[in-house]
Amino acid sequence: MCGIVGYIGTQSATDILVSGLERLEYRGYDSAGVATVEEGQINCVKAKGKLSNLRQKLEHTISQAQIGIGHTRWATHGKPEEHNAHPHLSSEMSVAVVQNGIIENYLEIKEELIAKGIEFRSETDTEVVPNLIAHFLTSSNSLLEAVQKTIARLEGAFALAIVSAEHPYELLVVRQQPPLVLGFGQGEFFCASDMTAILPYTRTILNLENGEIARLTPLGVEIYNFTGDRLSRFPRTLDWNPIQVEKQGFRHYMLKEIYEQPAVVRNCLDNYINLNWHAQDNPDYSPINLGLSPNLTDNLEHVQILACGTSWHAALIGKYLLEQVAGIPTTVDYASEFRYSPKPIIPHTLTIGVTQSGETADTIAALESERARRADLEPRLQAKLLGITNRSESTISQIVDRIIDTHAGIEIGVAATKTFTAQVMSFYFLSLDLAYRRQTISHSRIEEIIEGLRHIPSQIETILDTQADYIEELAHDFATETEDFIFIGRGINFPIALEGALKLKEISYIHAEAYPAGEMKHGPIALLDNKVPVVAVAMPGSVYEKVISNAQEAKARDARLIGVTTAMNAIEAAHTFNDVLTVPEVDELISPVLSVIPLQMLSYHIAAIKGLDVDQPRNLAKSVTVE
Ligand code: F6R
Repeated sequence: MCGIVGYIGTQSATDILVSGLERLEYRGYDSAGVATVEEGQINCVKAKGKLSNLRQKLEHTISQAQIGIGHTRWATHGKPEEHNAHPHLSSEMSVAVVQNGIIENYLEIKEELIAKGIEFRSETDTEVVPNLIAHFLTSSNSLLEAVQKTIARLEGAFALAIVSAEHPYELLVVRQQPPLVLGFGQGEFFCASDMTAILPYTRTILNLENGEIARLTPLGVEIYNFTGDRLSRFPRTLDWNPIQVEKQGFRHYMLKEIYEQPAVVRNCLDNYINLNWHAQDNPDYSPINLGLSPNLTDNLEHVQILACGTSWHAALIGKYLLEQVAGIPTTVDYASEFRYSPKPIIPHTLTIGVTQSGETADTIAALESERARRADLEPRLQAKLLGITNRSESTISQIVDRIIDTHAGIEIGVAATKTFTAQVMSFYFLSLDLAYRRQTISHSRIEEIIEGLRHIPSQIETILDTQADYIEELAHDFATETEDFIFIGRGINFPIALEGALKLKEISYIHAEAYPAGEMKHGPIALLDNKVPVVAVAMPGSVYEKVISNAQEAKARDARLIGVTTAMNAIEAAHTFNDVLTVPEVDELISPVLSVIPLQMLSYHIAAIKGLDVDQPRNLAKSVTVE
């Protein structure tokens, strides 16, 4: 969502802020701005729309400032107009603030300040903050004290970066829920809502925790709690490579990330499969190396999974695997729904939060509420929380008992691709680990599944090598006139139909729906005619014939039929489908990791042919850190 960058040091603050904001573009935004402090004055430049508009405006300013804050805004309170863009200044222009989150009681504070004669320039909740700080500065000994008094008045979830004309060598940073990371360089210090913004400058970082204030000066960083006690916290050095954040010759990040999937799966296998496992060796030695303690996994009677969007689709595949492989009844809920209608408490439940970013507000809140409501109950009812995330340093890791890191590397394209595949891989590992511990399937079947997983990287490579041109060509047919798509699938591939439809909606803005194939005749089939293409995910296995016959019902209504199936079925596929997207032969249980790839590519090419902003689709954000 909104992005924050802050800098204090010896280089040009404006350059560093703008380059940091560029690296946050992927999160989604509709306006941007920077404020720097120089010669006792705050200079603020803001622009509606893309960062190029801000850059153009900055070309006409000359600044030597070495301290400043920057922001990309995704509108919540007030339209995406320049006057609502951050930074916001106090009425006297002496304090500048950028904020991520929501100040819930801003109207009440705003009325108070208006009664004191303060004039407001925007409709945002944020503008009360610099005005409160300016107000408290008159009766405080330091900027820190004024900020403490201000946050004591604020309700909500907010991350702030603050500069003041009267305190030109201080940058204050506050965290109350939305993430903030600090970066440590040589005589220079950074803050950002997402570490990608500062990775080119430093890999020594510290995650600010909830209820903390950081005071950055040219001499160093001090951390305080909200009541003003100094805290002792130490940064750590990341092993991330800034090159991961480059496009490396691909036209879009999304395409690069689709092509990274073989490497991602290899990485997952290397991390989580015990190479030396042989069923006969030692009954206590699992083939899977997730490091889960018996406290989390023993005596499980129920798994409940909480997630949003694409992660929710991965969770549906997880449910299939946990039930069919590990034999554990599993429920999947949208985190945003679960928060307000929690399920009856079942003993010995493992709760899994799936979130690529580790920051999705709904998922975080749902996990926190699950922990809280079980806290005082007897041991068998207490929460056991597991997180599946691609950002092991993120907020989710502070909430759950254990993380499964999906090891996909940073994903910049807003539409999730490689992280989805990596989440599904995590569910294979988890269900195999639990199946092994609970002895729900034979060791030879475990070996067979692991062998199948080992083939995935080369099989994805085959799809990328053999299908790319064909899919790009096919995409032209749908880029101009098609307004609606239907995706169908069954069993373990129904979530892939959902994911295919979501990818298409997100980046091509074509309306798409997904149904379990057998549901078509209960209503949605009425939508079909020759203008509505149907994509059928028809992978060989237990429901293959069923999907084929559902697809034929669609064809009989004149729908153009696109099938995702294996080469083995070429003749039947050619007979049934108008267009066939072919994947290699694969065990049904493993098939989703292959069947999703052509659908990612189809959506990508349709959107790219339409000339749309594939990596930053309208209205979407990479991390949804507000409710
Ligand atoms: C889809 C997409 C979103 C996210 C959703 C949850 O391509 O990116 O639907 O999957 O916002 O995000 P995380 O996984 O970060 O919790």
